[in-house]
Amino acid sequence: GLLLPGAAALGYLLGSIPFGLLLTKAAGLGDVRAIGSGNIGATNVLRTGRKDIAAATLVLDALKATAAALIFARFSADAAVIAGFFAFLGHIFPVWLKFKGGKGVATYIGFLLGVVWPAAFAFAAIWLTTAKLSRYSSLSALVASAASPLVLLAMGQNAAAVAAALMTGILWVKHRENIARLRAGTEGRIGQKS
Ligand code: G3P
Repeated sequence: GLLLPGAAALGYLLGSIPFGLLLTKAAGLGDVRAIGSGNIGATNVLRTGRKDIAAATLVLDALKATAAALIFARFSADAAVIAGFFAFLGHIFPVWLKFKGGKGVATYIGFLLGVVWPAAFAFAAIWLTTAKLSRYSSLSALVASAASPLVLLAMGQNAAAVAAALMTGILWVKHRENIARLRAGTEGRIGQKS
């Protein structure tokens, strides 16, 4: 049927909305891709100094995946997973930005919130704990995303765990420059302008 292709298509379209880019432009902050890491995510938006715009980017980049999953949850659990997973792909590979999108942290949490909501709280708790200890946004995302497929497996959520494992792989590849900076000791701390 058309359910799973429809979930993939609508998920991708919702996920490809680049809220960080749109909100910073609307706020007159210029092109966020020209500052800091060049990323369009909330961490880099925070480097503009506007906490409110960064918070809005985090929430909207998350909720686009949550919305995609919840729209399709009424049809089937698999459709919800597909919609949320494709929202993540849309965020990372948006056709509108020549497939150069974000790094997927907020959208990963949004996926979890829409598909298996307690796993989103596990992700957030691990992210916050790592961030509190290290002040590195990237390291916190790497650790929380590595744990999430295992959390889902432990909950018996096998389809979501498979999608999450793929998302973690993509998230890690998108963080390869962050990983190199972490290893070199040159990664910026949260809120630090670079
Ligand atoms: O949200 C992505 C974060 O983990 C790293 O962002 O801008 O420091 O590369 P950034």
